[in-house]
Amino acid sequence: MRRIKIGIIGTGYIGNVHARIHSANSDAEVSALFDIVPEKAEKAASSVGGKVCTSREELFEHSDAVLVCTPNKTHVEIALDALDHEKHVFCEKPFAIGIGDAEKLRSAADASGRIFQVGHNRRFAPVYETLQELVAGDSPHSAHIKMNRGELLNPAWTGDVNVTGGFLYETTIHLFDMMRFQFGEIDELVAYGSTHEYPEPDEFSIIFRFKNGFHCTFASSSDASWLFPFERIEVFCHHRTILTEEMERLLDSKGHDPNFETHSFHMFEKEERWGYVQEDKAFIDSILNGTDPPVTATDGFKSVELVESVYRAIESGDRVRF
Ligand SMILES: NC(=O)c1ccc[n+]([C@@H]2O[C@H](COP(=O)([O-])OP(=O)(O)OC[C@H]3O[C@@H](n4cnc5c(N)ncnc54)[C@H](O)[C@@H]3O)[C@@H](O)[C@H]2O)c1
Repeated sequence: MRRIKIGIIGTGYIGNVHARIHSANSDAEVSALFDIVPEKAEKAASSVGGKVCTSREELFEHSDAVLVCTPNKTHVEIALDALDHEKHVFCEKPFAIGIGDAEKLRSAADASGRIFQVGHNRRFAPVYETLQELVAGDSPHSAHIKMNRGELLNPAWTGDVNVTGGFLYETTIHLFDMMRFQFGEIDELVAYGSTHEYPEPDEFSIIFRFKNGFHCTFASSSDASWLFPFERIEVFCHHRTILTEEMERLLDSKGHDPNFETHSFHMFEKEERWGYVQEDKAFIDSILNGTDPPVTATDGFKSVELVESVYRAIESGDRVRF
């Protein structure tokens, strides 16, 4: 069977993660790499192979599928260019910055006839797959969700709102997508935000109501330290709490007596524990089988819509209805 030729644009941290994973997949090969800092593409190529290209145009000539692994503000322009060149696209999160650009990219992806997958890796993490199975077998009432960071310093651009689009686009968006994945579509939200360490709103308290009646509180801080677990979902059901701790562990407590069962995921390598291996395999399988990708352009669009709605709710002081 033919191998899918992968071109990677942006060979920094996450570009290298995907490069290593695809180079180990017998259905794929890293065939081309491009970075505006050529030494970065050369360094990646020295470990995974592939042609170091001097332009995007040259990279397109050597690829069937393109991974967009550059900083946030560049995603839409690069992804549109790749679709114009009739390539399958894997676009890192965030899908876009702003509703206008998100609509433009969704329309282009839908009209392209190509596979377009968004890098919401956590959907594939074993901890969140397990949470989904347990939630599906119960009737959850409400949840408390937390998505924090210790700093916006690394990489350096993560503190620059002109590059990220804002903290919600850079970090919180991971669990905005996760909420939809676990609990369904959102009906209404109220939000409060404030500015402390960085020149942008960096601390958020939000309440979401879902179309199915489920509701949750959501806290997100950019400077809360990296205290474990920086990311957590607590789901409350009938005499039951299910709680996740980053991608490491899930605790399940049931009944009237104090007790809990632990599901531990520490035995997985990080790239599998965080879902990167599975999302990259799913992308290749969708191309080979001609099936819809598991995280679509519409999913990417909806996570952008949630980010924009929270910023709008904070600015206006009004609740936002969908
Ligand atoms: N899904 C996840 O868990 C996850 C994790 C980390 C990063 N990300 C996302 O991936 C993207 C990249 O993040 P990173 O941490 O790898 O950043 P990074 O700074 O380590 O790497 C980005 C690379 O892109 C290059 N670059 C910048 N503009 C470019 C352009 N126009 N054309 C070609 N190359 C360009 C830079 O030189 C750099 O090598 C971001 O959007 C980030 O939000 C996702």
